[in-house]
Amino acid sequence: MRPHCGKYGWYHGFTVVPNVFIHIWRRLFCLKKGTDIMELITTRIKGMEDVVPAESHKWQTVEKIAADTAASYGFREIRIPTFENTELFVRSVGETTDVVQKEMFSVMGRESKFTLRPEGTAGTIRAVLQNGLLNDALPQKVFYILSCFRHEKPQAGRLWEFHQFGAEMVGSSSPAADAEMICLVGSVIERLGLKDIELHINSIGCPHCRAKYYEKLREFFAPHKEELCGTCQSRFEKNPMRILDCKSEVCREIGKDAPLMIDYLCDECREHFETLKGYLDEMGIKYTVDPKIVRGLDYYTKTVFEFITTSIGAQGTVCGGGRYDGLIEEMGGNPTPALGFAMGLERIIMTMEKQGCEFDMPRGCDIYIGAMGAAAQKKAVSLVKALRDEGYHAECDVMGRGVKAQMKYANKIGSAFSMIIGDNELEAGSAKLKNMATGEETEITLGDKFLDVFSDIHMADMFASEE
Ligand code: HAM
Repeated sequence: MRPHCGKYGWYHGFTVVPNVFIHIWRRLFCLKKGTDIMELITTRIKGMEDVVPAESHKWQTVEKIAADTAASYGFREIRIPTFENTELFVRSVGETTDVVQKEMFSVMGRESKFTLRPEGTAGTIRAVLQNGLLNDALPQKVFYILSCFRHEKPQAGRLWEFHQFGAEMVGSSSPAADAEMICLVGSVIERLGLKDIELHINSIGCPHCRAKYYEKLREFFAPHKEELCGTCQSRFEKNPMRILDCKSEVCREIGKDAPLMIDYLCDECREHFETLKGYLDEMGIKYTVDPKIVRGLDYYTKTVFEFITTSIGAQGTVCGGGRYDGLIEEMGGNPTPALGFAMGLERIIMTMEKQGCEFDMPRGCDIYIGAMGAAAQKKAVSLVKALRDEGYHAECDVMGRGVKAQMKYANKIGSAFSMIIGDNELEAGSAKLKNMATGEETEITLGDKFLDVFSDIHMADMFASEE
C-alpha cells in the first residue's frame, strides 16, 4: 500500500491490504481531527451531483436527441474507460494547461499513475488508434456521452464531475469537415429547442505560424513577466499562448491587449479559415469571429469554436471544440487530421430549464392491480406479468397494504387505470377496471380475454385523450 495524500488528499494505492491498516491510514492521512464520519457517509462530495428520478427524464431527452442527431450525420457511438494512464492526458491536453497542471484527479497505481478523464477526446483518440479504426473507411466519425472530472472551483455550471456529449471526426483536413461539425452542434441545439446560443469561431493556426506569434507574445509579456502568476511565468517560455487562458484576474488584465493569433496566420491556415466561413455563410449558420478564443487544451490547431449562452451566468460556454491536426501523430499514429467538439450536458440542461424548453416526460403506469388476500395477490402478480410482457407498464402491491392505501398509491403514481381483485372478483371471474382520470368503471374479465379487452379499453382511452 502506498498512501499518496496528494494535494487533494485522496490518492491511494491498489494493493490489497487488511482493513485494519486501511482504517489506520484513513485516520492518519485522510480524516481531519473532529471530522463527523456520519456526515461523510451521508453527504455527497462537493462538485458532484445526483440525478434523482424526477430529473432523469431531462437527461434522457438530451442524450437521445444528441445521439439521434449524431447518428443522422453518420456518427457511431464509442465507449471508453473512465480512467486512463495519466501520461495520455499530459501528452494530449498539454502539460502547461490548467487542466493538467491543476485540475486532474489522479490515482497512484502500483507502477504508474492513472487519471479520471478530464475530457473525452484523448481517450477517444487513444481508442481509435488502439482498435485500428483508422484502417476502416475514413473519415472515422464517433460520438460519446460520458462523465468527465476536473478539480475546478465548484459553482453553478462548473463541477468536479460533469458530463459531455462529444463527437470526433478523424481523417479529413477539409474545412468542409469543420463546417459539418459546427452544423452538427447547431442541429442538436435546434432540436433541443434552445434559443440565443451564439457561435464564436477563431483560428489559432498551426505550429508553423504559431512560432512567429509566440515570439510576438513573449515580446508583449516580457515587461510584465514578474507580475504574472507563478503558473504563467512558467508558461512564458514553453507556451505563452496559455497565458491568455489564465483564470487569474492579474494575468487576464495584462493579457487583454496582447497580439492576436489571427493576425499571424500563415497562408494555408488563413485560407482554411476563410473557406470555413464561406461554408458557414452558405449554410446560413450565423457566427462571430472572436480572435480571443484560445481554448484551454493544447492540442488545437486552426479552427476553434465555442457556443455561448447568456442564459446561465458566467459559465455560459455550452460547447467547445476545434481541429487538432497534430494530435494523432503526437500520440504515435500516422499524421492524420482530426477535429471534434464536446457539449457540457449540465450547462445544456440548465439552459433548457432557464429557457423553458420541453423535456420528454417518462411514460407512466398504465394499470395498477391491487389485491385483497393471498389468492388475489397471486392473480395480481400473474396479470401484471402478462401485461408487462405485452409492453404495458403495470404495477401491483408489494408492500402488503390495505385496499385504501393501494388505491392511494395508484393515484400517487398517476396510473391510467386501476383494478382491485378480491375473493368476490376471483369467484365471479371479473373485476371493475377504473379509468383514474374520468372515474369511469368497466367490468373486465380476469380470464383468457383479459389482455385483449384491456388493450381495447386502453387504446380507446388514448384516442379519447388525444382528441
Ligand atoms: P472543453 O471546452 O474543455 O473542451 O469542454 C467542453 C464543454 O464541457 C465546455 O464547453 C463546458 O460546457 C463543459 N465543461 C467543461 N468543464 C466543465 C466543468 N468543470 N463543469 C461543467 N461543465 C464543464 C473539451 O473538453 C474538448 N475535449 C472538446 C473537444 C472535442 N475538442 C475537440 N474534440
